[in-house]
Amino acid sequence: TSVPVAVVGAGPAGLMLAHLLGRAGVETIALDTRTRHEIETTQRAGILEADVARDLVGTGVSDRILREGHEHEGVELRSAGRSYRIDFQELVGASVWLYPQTDVFTDLADARERDGGTVHFGIRDTEVLDVTTDAPRVRYTAPDGTRHEIRARYVVGADGSRGTCRDLVPEDRRVRYGAEYPFAWFGILAEAPASAPELVYARSEHGFALISQRTESVQRMYFQCAPDESADAWSDDRIWETLQARVAGEDGFRLKEGPVTEKTVLRFRSFVQEPMRWGSLLLAGDAAHTVPPTGARGLNLALHDVKILADVLARALGGGGEAALEEYQPRALRRVWRAQHFSYWMTQLLHTAPGASPFDLRRQLGEFDHVVGTRAGRTHLAEQYTGWPAREHD
Ligand code: DHB
Repeated sequence: TSVPVAVVGAGPAGLMLAHLLGRAGVETIALDTRTRHEIETTQRAGILEADVARDLVGTGVSDRILREGHEHEGVELRSAGRSYRIDFQELVGASVWLYPQTDVFTDLADARERDGGTVHFGIRDTEVLDVTTDAPRVRYTAPDGTRHEIRARYVVGADGSRGTCRDLVPEDRRVRYGAEYPFAWFGILAEAPASAPELVYARSEHGFALISQRTESVQRMYFQCAPDESADAWSDDRIWETLQARVAGEDGFRLKEGPVTEKTVLRFRSFVQEPMRWGSLLLAGDAAHTVPPTGARGLNLALHDVKILADVLARALGGGGEAALEEYQPRALRRVWRAQHFSYWMTQLLHTAPGASPFDLRRQLGEFDHVVGTRAGRTHLAEQYTGWPAREHD
């Protein structure tokens, strides 16, 4: 088979790219080692920037987000038993949407089927060849055991933070930037009503907790844990005791409890690889960069990458050639590093590092007070959390 663009990785980044290219008249084949069911049932973050939500509707992926998503006009930050509201609408005139990444994926996979796009899930033994030529190839084994080869003009690596496409950039031609954190997140889904109208980001002497939502009867929550924590070691009672202690305080706030239906420990790290292009290979989303989950930037950032990438690829294939492709990395990286900074900053603002000194703790409280207690501080958070307005960014 021959196709202008082969996409390795059919998560939200790969599928959105295929969708946007399809609209521009560019045919793609997207591949993923996971089955559609595996991707749909792996819990991910749940917050979309308004611009990202608008693009999903506006480019014809689906308008389900307008019916089933929830607009959030602010969040609450919590410390020492008190909540402080950050009013996004009042501060920066923007909202975010609560709409789980698994639903974004389902909408995109349905849209590909509806539009006749080719996506192969559950494949294995992917090999990407000849990326330094203008005739790269992708080989893979289909679920029925047959071996296939796709010839393409470009290959996009959208295979996520554990993917292998980025390794195709030779070691002496790439730079990897990263930071590790001395903690992770324990994530749960619980059958319970919402405990608060908006998301609650809580810092406490026992560590961080995030109270998010899914539906009227299912809630998503996270708490800071050790990086090597094992989810199986935690009973429902122990989970609720831990979460309650992290949000407890003088205002008497309590979480509404219910059966825990799923628990996982999430890896925490910051990572960027440059360059994002190597010959005929282009990297997008988590394949090129990972952010820690605080602030829910990952999916938003990936969808910003592919918006730029779809534009430059369509122009390159339409005769714009090299010059169009050269725009990709500089345009994408600016937001990548802003998001890296924001995710890191919000993480250190709200987590307790093991071994932190009394000075560290008081400095953090001073920073927290500035963020919630001044308009400049609130605006700083609001503008980053809602995604930077296009006019301030490009
Ligand atoms: C969710 C996850 C996040 O990392 C975040 O900052 C906000 C919400 C979520 O899963 O709902």
